[in-house]
Amino acid sequence: MKFRLTIKNLPVDLRNWLDRECRKKKIGIDEFVIAVLRRARQALEMPLFADNLKRQDQIAGGMPFKFIDLFAGIGGFRIALEELGGRCVLSCEKDVFARQTYKAWFGELPHRDIREIDPGSIPDHDLLVAGFPCQPFSIAGVSKRTSLGQPHGFNDRVLGNLFFYLADIIRVKRPPVLLLENVRNLKFHDNGHTWQTIRDTIEALEYVVFARVIDACGWVPQHRERIYIVCFDRNVFGSAPPFVFPSPPEGRCHKVSDILEPNPDPKYMLSEQLWNTLQRHAQSHKSKGHGFGYGIADPEGISRTLSARYYKDGSEILIRSDTGPPRKLTPAECSRLMGFDPAKFRIVVSDTQAYRQFGNAVVPGLIKAIGRQIQNVLAWYLIQNGNGCLVKGRLRNESRGHELGKAGTELKSRSCS
Ligand SMILES: C[S@@+](CC[C@H](N)C(=O)[O-])C[C@H]1O[C@@H](n2cnc3c(N)ncnc32)[C@H](O)[C@@H]1O
Repeated sequence: MKFRLTIKNLPVDLRNWLDRECRKKKIGIDEFVIAVLRRARQALEMPLFADNLKRQDQIAGGMPFKFIDLFAGIGGFRIALEELGGRCVLSCEKDVFARQTYKAWFGELPHRDIREIDPGSIPDHDLLVAGFPCQPFSIAGVSKRTSLGQPHGFNDRVLGNLFFYLADIIRVKRPPVLLLENVRNLKFHDNGHTWQTIRDTIEALEYVVFARVIDACGWVPQHRERIYIVCFDRNVFGSAPPFVFPSPPEGRCHKVSDILEPNPDPKYMLSEQLWNTLQRHAQSHKSKGHGFGYGIADPEGISRTLSARYYKDGSEILIRSDTGPPRKLTPAECSRLMGFDPAKFRIVVSDTQAYRQFGNAVVPGLIKAIGRQIQNVLAWYLIQNGNGCLVKGRLRNESRGHELGKAGTELKSRSCS
């Protein structure tokens, strides 16, 4: 079809640009203007990404997207996703001290309780992230609750059922992608029924589910096995989105000595009394043939998992001292052990609260790697839908040895020594 456009009153610079581009491309002005308009329409109507993205979203190297940060803690997800070009449009966290840290780090106070949020009032977003409370599923949480005669898992009316508030938000808002995190034991809790219920619920909402236990030791010098659950709306991405979990970065391995301070405050040294108690308990555990008791970290190796209970005695990760009993990690060392940067994200709460916050958090480096893989699927989606010029060439399989497009598979984590 031939067009005859009348272009009037165009500013001189645009007129010159039009002439130049048409000469360069050897096409007529009509054809060129129509192509530009088509491109503009595509950009404005891009279906996947929530509209009204601000200029600040266009962070170099990252595909812009909007996300919500539920059960946000201190914002481990947020740190990672903002580095990828994501913009947080809602956060939610109940704990008063975690909220304090979140405000200091991101300049905003999260909504308080997820149970008080009307799902319909949540802004549109492309990605929902949530590390929903894990105590009712964690091994420590289950044995403590069992010994106190308390319910655990979904029977825990306060913590266990929070997953269903999440499901309500998903049902109402239908974010194209979900990224959930929980303790490894989630898969084994209640003989696998808990995980089956979670998976069935998400699949019934028409999402394709990928789940994998990953040890963060490829990103930080700490064994930290967590389950990561990435879900794609089947109605947007079809039944086989080409998602793969990331492999740890190649190259230098981190070790505990990388995160240690040269001159820690002596107050972190255990008292003789506590040290004697820990040794006595370890001996009695050993004679009964279960448990390990305390753990002295090898400075050249990888530590045990930092838990939210670290503030109590720090027994799971102790640093040997030449002058007396071993010491606990300082809060700044815990921050680095989790892959945070305490110089940039300064600790604003007491030691006790800081230990709890880092022990509960996600490792931002690992979340960033998963986020990148999600962005690759978004790029794939755009290519499929004809907008590929934006991102062509960036789609890649970072997880060596795994096929693209295997939906719903559960892959084993790589082991770390
Ligand atoms: C496992 S932590 C998440 C940590 C987070 N991913 C991070 O990187 O810091 C779970 C969080 O859920 C919060 N939480 C528990 N119940 C909640 C509720 N009803 N509404 C909002 N947040 C809640 C807890 O205070 C806790 O900080």
